[in-house]
Amino acid sequence: MDRRTFLSYLGTGAAALAAASSGLGVLEGKASAMSPSADHMFGFKTNKVSGYFQPISPSKEDKLVLPEGYRYDVVAAFDDVINQAGEKFGQGADYNAFFPIDGSSTRGLLVTNHEYTNIFALGPIADSGKTKEQKDKDLYYQGMSVTEVFQDQDGVWKLDTTSKYARRITGFSTFEITGPARGIPALQNATTAQGTFANCSGGVTFWNTVLSCEENFSDTAEENNLPLTHYGWVIEVDPFDGSYLKKHTALGRFNHENTAMGLTADKRVVVYMGDDKKDACVYKFVSKGKYDPAKGRGNSALLEEGTLYVANFKKGEWVPVTFEALSKALANEKFKAPSGVKSTRDELLAKFKSQGDVVTNCHEAALILGGTPTDRPEDIEISPFDNTVFICHTNNDAHGNIHGHITRIFENDNDLGSSGFDFEIFAAGGRQSGFSSPDNLAFDSNGNLWVVTDISTSSHNKGVYKSFMNNGLFVIPTTGPSMGEAQQFASGPKDAELTGPFFTPDERTLFLSVQHPGEMTEDLNNPTSTWPHRPGDKKARCGVVAISGFKFG
Ligand code: FEO
Ligand code: CA
Ligand code: CA
Ligand code: CA
Repeated sequence: MDRRTFLSYLGTGAAALAAASSGLGVLEGKASAMSPSADHMFGFKTNKVSGYFQPISPSKEDKLVLPEGYRYDVVAAFDDVINQAGEKFGQGADYNAFFPIDGSSTRGLLVTNHEYTNIFALGPIADSGKTKEQKDKDLYYQGMSVTEVFQDQDGVWKLDTTSKYARRITGFSTFEITGPARGIPALQNATTAQGTFANCSGGVTFWNTVLSCEENFSDTAEENNLPLTHYGWVIEVDPFDGSYLKKHTALGRFNHENTAMGLTADKRVVVYMGDDKKDACVYKFVSKGKYDPAKGRGNSALLEEGTLYVANFKKGEWVPVTFEALSKALANEKFKAPSGVKSTRDELLAKFKSQGDVVTNCHEAALILGGTPTDRPEDIEISPFDNTVFICHTNNDAHGNIHGHITRIFENDNDLGSSGFDFEIFAAGGRQSGFSSPDNLAFDSNGNLWVVTDISTSSHNKGVYKSFMNNGLFVIPTTGPSMGEAQQFASGPKDAELTGPFFTPDERTLFLSVQHPGEMTEDLNNPTSTWPHRPGDKKARCGVVAISGFKFG
């Protein structure tokens, strides 16, 4: 397919939407009993076209490159002041979610995750390890930011630092622990936890809060003498209420990438989640109770009780990860641990005494119960058009999956609450597709999947990764004649990864994080990137940009 064909496809908004909405050619005659997913297209009443772009070529430049006719504003960058108290925007910007104020697509709260720090925040680290000051900065610059953002008369996106909502959530904030691991011995009987860090991707809920995922938490916890079991959870914050900070243990503890929330056919809440490590599993949590829109944030209690399932891709089954099932497996004296589980039977019997222990040591329990080890499951999105579930399997060099792929799950009877499923490889990274190592996902209302890539910085522009150059943002239609074909929309600056794509409800703005530009820098006088190239500034500053220029047809 040539570019002209792709451009004209993107121009056929109404036709594409109709095809996508009907699920034709996707579910092969099965009823498309759609249930809503908690993304910016809740109910997808719009019919906007986020297309009409001339795809770009890969780039090695220290620039955020966009197609002709598009522009970006840096809304907030590392260390910018965000409020009257003088709090600073964190480092390692990842997930973004935009919450309109009074229904506006040009003013709202932007919630951003801060995943990690680097030399631009901490300075060089001595061989003896971080100083106390560096450890404190590390805890401060991770976590989350809530900022108020708006578009001025000239169309430029800016921070409103006078906002009463703008605030930081850091490694020092106090969280309430909910669910089966609250107060158990493995968590030192704690009912609260200090702080959040390693906040990777996340998701929004039906009740206008944000779920944020603690991913690679171990180093920060260990360096600060914090209990490892207090991290690796899904946390919930309310952008409009600074006092609402929860860690929901029912959703399991692992290297959480993100959440994708939907509803089962009988209106229970389902949350899909990936565990971003090599040979790790895909999960879904299904609440015990039913979603009631009238209860608003009260529905948050649904995340405290339910069943956690792990995907067995060979059988096409969702396997309940319960203490009951695990006890049964361990009761067998001939029990043999699957590869990936290092503990002996005796050690496992000592470790697992309750459902709290099961969620705390979720990866081990899941493998024992038949969860399929997969290739770094990162972002997950539920298609708002046909209820299929898209998972980025970033890559796994341990068994030769160098460029990764996007898996698409078809739940039985098109019900997100189903216990069985089928799947396909929707798109594969590699020379043939032009992208490698897919990570975060977002849908637009035209059925296109927006995919950012995460080729690890040490591999950029080397070996088999050479042709992809810097990490990018790609658009892949999920329906129509160009289904599965990627076209590049953006290329990040040097050493960076683009993360957290999130559209405003009118789809005229796309928020996107530029994460870890210049992260290979060893000498602050000689940085490998100085993006966003502020005059006189020699620091590379990760941050969030607002992209505009989308045409509508
Ligand atoms: Fe934080 Fe899996 O990326
Ligand atoms: Ca990342
Ligand atoms: Ca990621
Ligand atoms: Ca990643």
